[in-house]
Amino acid sequence: MMFKNLSIIRRILPLSLVEFLEDIRYLGLPVPIKTVRPHTLLSNLNLFFLKELAQRVERMGIPGDFVECGVYRGGSAGVLAYEMINSKLARRLWLYDAFAGMPAASELDDKYSVAIQGQFIGSEAQTRRIMQRLNIPEEDFEIVVGWFEDTLPKAEKGPIALLHIDCDFYDPVKLSLETFYQYVQPGGYVVINDYGAFQGCRIATDEFLNHLDEKVQLVQIDREAYFFQKPQ
Ligand SMILES: C[S@@+](CC[C@H](N)C(=O)[O-])C[C@H]1O[C@@H](n2cnc3c(N)ncnc32)[C@H](O)[C@@H]1O
Repeated sequence: MMFKNLSIIRRILPLSLVEFLEDIRYLGLPVPIKTVRPHTLLSNLNLFFLKELAQRVERMGIPGDFVECGVYRGGSAGVLAYEMINSKLARRLWLYDAFAGMPAASELDDKYSVAIQGQFIGSEAQTRRIMQRLNIPEEDFEIVVGWFEDTLPKAEKGPIALLHIDCDFYDPVKLSLETFYQYVQPGGYVVINDYGAFQGCRIATDEFLNHLDEKVQLVQIDREAYFFQKPQ
């Protein structure tokens, strides 16, 4: 109910006023966290950790782009972009989402996943607005709109320093790993945002990792998110 009221307020007030009120509400948080806070499902801890991983690949000089599968309203994407734009390496941010709500769950997904089919309808416009507010040059990021089944096979492939997988269900998580992991550079990071929260995401990740020759260590960030480093 509370959430519905907020979205009504967002629709009736001018955008600049809504953003001003949100800025006041999240005054205690640093940029870019406060800018993305109203538009992300990630916890603050998870957002800070994403920021830290983006800074770590920079400190370690790991080459490659940042890739996100599951953008929603552009919250976590804003954090990735903000950390990436001052990179000494030529990086770009690739953002993949259908912006059409969660797809059908598979038989490997849990009851909670079935319940959220069709929900979380994101927005390319909102994602662009976050990028604009964070002064991210348009040429530094690419939004690829469509279902992963259609877009990932045709995706532009190159070295990846940081892969953020935030698409909840078995099929999209598995496809994201199968498509992009091979391009993650040694020492680069993979964040599996829903490993602790969604059964299908956990099964897809475990299946994928069990078939790798190299063994990786999953590390917990918060209740939902885990990450691992590709062995060097
Ligand atoms: C949990 S939301 C992402 C949250 C976001 N990273 C944030 O900062 O709040 C999951 C997103 O994955 C997208 N998604 C899931 N499965 C997909 C698929 N097969 N193809 C395209 N997009 C998909 C949904 O549209 C949704 O926007």
